[in-house]
Amino acid sequence: MANAKGNIQEYIAAKTREIIRGRLASDKIRGFIKDNTRKVETMFTYYNCAMMEVETKFKVLNEELTLSHAHTPIETIKTRLKSMDSLMEKVDRYGIPLSVESIMENINDIAGIRIICSFKDDIYSLVDSFLSQDDVTLVEKKDYIANPKENGYRSLHLIVSVPIFLEKQKRDMKVEVQFRTIAMDFWASLEHKIKYKKDLPESINEKLVSELAMCAEISADLDEKMQDIRRQLTEAS
Ligand code: GTP
Ligand code: MG
Repeated sequence: MANAKGNIQEYIAAKTREIIRGRLASDKIRGFIKDNTRKVETMFTYYNCAMMEVETKFKVLNEELTLSHAHTPIETIKTRLKSMDSLMEKVDRYGIPLSVESIMENINDIAGIRIICSFKDDIYSLVDSFLSQDDVTLVEKKDYIANPKENGYRSLHLIVSVPIFLEKQKRDMKVEVQFRTIAMDFWASLEHKIKYKKDLPESINEKLVSELAMCAEISADLDEKMQDIRRQLTEAS
């Protein structure tokens, strides 16, 4: 995972060299990156720019809402550029044709932003404000808060397209935005750890999965109760 705050060009170039030299990727993928180094690096740079644009939009909304409502809706904003390894693994898994154009067409989460709020209501009002901006185009929306996944996962996911303005052109880039409450994020981090722990005995794994599903319900209940307390507080003041 690339840290968006570091020097992204350096990171991408180092990663490109590592894949070309390394043994991890298949010959086909190594060959593709070697033949398209400049194009791949440019692609990552464009996604990094789009991610910065979207991050700024949320920072602006947060500033304005803090001023007008005396309440800060966003607790944390996390940004991440998909790592080269994880991108290539996904390209391989989905059988996506090996070209920069087809990767950009088919993979929607190269640039990812996570917006973490204290309260569920804030998520919906942020989504509305964000989507009503005239340079944001909705590509896909998945509301796992209204319709949680079977394992208990909750979050609201958007794929949007936003323009980036370059020296001589304007490009529309796709960005994945995930909205969660603090409680949903806490749950998802733990679930992620368990999911990727491959060496757990089946019986323990089953037990943890079912305990996690229960925690998701408790956590959603807590979110509702906290939301209600805040509503009462706002009404009373
Ligand atoms: P990919 O998973 O990206 O191939 O696409 P998809 O169309 O299935 O996307 P979806 O919107 O369902 O999930 C995208 C992202 O949401 C994932 O990469 C995770 O970051 C997160 N996510 C989705 N489901 C879960 C889950 O069950 N647990 C956790 N911890 N994260 C999840
Ligand atoms: Mg998925």
